[in-house]
Amino acid sequence: MNGGGPGEDREGRSSDVDALVGEALARVAEADTSEKLRELATELTGKRSPLSRAKAGLAALEAGERRAAGMALNAARQAVEAALESRRLELVAAERTALLEAERLDLSEVVPGRRRGHLHLVTQARDRLEDTFIGMGYTVAEGPEAESDWYNFEALNFPAGHPAREMYDTFYLELGPPESTLLRTHTSPVQIRIMESSEPPIYSVMPGRCYRIDTPDASHLPVFHQIEGLVVDRGITFGALAGTLDAFTEAYFGQGFRSRLRPSYFPFTEPSAEFDITCVFCKGEGCRTCGRTGWLELGGCGMVHPNVFAAVGYDPEVWSGFAFGFGIDRLVMMRHGIDDIRELITNDVRFLEQF
Ligand code: PHE
Repeated sequence: MNGGGPGEDREGRSSDVDALVGEALARVAEADTSEKLRELATELTGKRSPLSRAKAGLAALEAGERRAAGMALNAARQAVEAALESRRLELVAAERTALLEAERLDLSEVVPGRRRGHLHLVTQARDRLEDTFIGMGYTVAEGPEAESDWYNFEALNFPAGHPAREMYDTFYLELGPPESTLLRTHTSPVQIRIMESSEPPIYSVMPGRCYRIDTPDASHLPVFHQIEGLVVDRGITFGALAGTLDAFTEAYFGQGFRSRLRPSYFPFTEPSAEFDITCVFCKGEGCRTCGRTGWLELGGCGMVHPNVFAAVGYDPEVWSGFAFGFGIDRLVMMRHGIDDIRELITNDVRFLEQF
């Protein structure tokens, strides 16, 4: 044995090894990131670590001591490596959880008192309109948005070249002969579809999306929503139309809301009218929004034209009826005092969350 001073064989002494392990385990426990732990692992078990140096020092020991000291060092290394591994697993799991938590986007969680996602304002209005009419004994029907010229115009008494077609700036589809297929400009084609496929009496409303070529501004969008009403029965009068619109206005807007009719023109109704409702802003007192009249224009209506009955094969001597139609988006704007229709499609959450 070279020398024999106290320092020379310290690598082999079990008390020193115990101290080394104790210190190593304490430092492992303190490492708080897997990055730091990796550096610590090199420091504690790498080539230049005290453990490795102690192992190298074993060569200097006498054979008898070497065996015991070697076993003690192996046990020490195993203890340190086991501690490193279990701490590593702990840290990796914690870091993973933290990352998931940070990146979490839980769209399903129910937080009491906080709404996450709901039906769009226009959908809510459409649902309420349907409910209101169902309560009045109507059924709800739908039709396609891509229509033929027949349903959108011809059967509704707009023959080819009829000037009233110019009320509707139409998107035509490149399908079939030119201008034979289009995106419906109103929900009135659904009237024709219902009458073609069923016999009177008919009490139906037909909500849906419509299209017209329009540059978007505060009151126009090229895609908008209408709801149509159609009644066909024996002895249906203009008075029934007026009464129905009045009953609807009160059911939808509330007590004190009335409707009125003004003469107008539509090819598929005769006589035709525009219908107004009590101004929702001033309750009829007269304000700037209603031009001091106390009324807001909502839609069109009239008695079904005999030519329309002829187009669907109904006998106008037996059946009579009325129809009405109005914009759901407009209605929503009136009801909530929204002054720009584009708000409805901008999808600004700050706007949408109010409803
Ligand atoms: N379809 C007409 C329009 O959009 C509205 C209307 C419907 C008029 C039913 C009368 C009867 O202009």
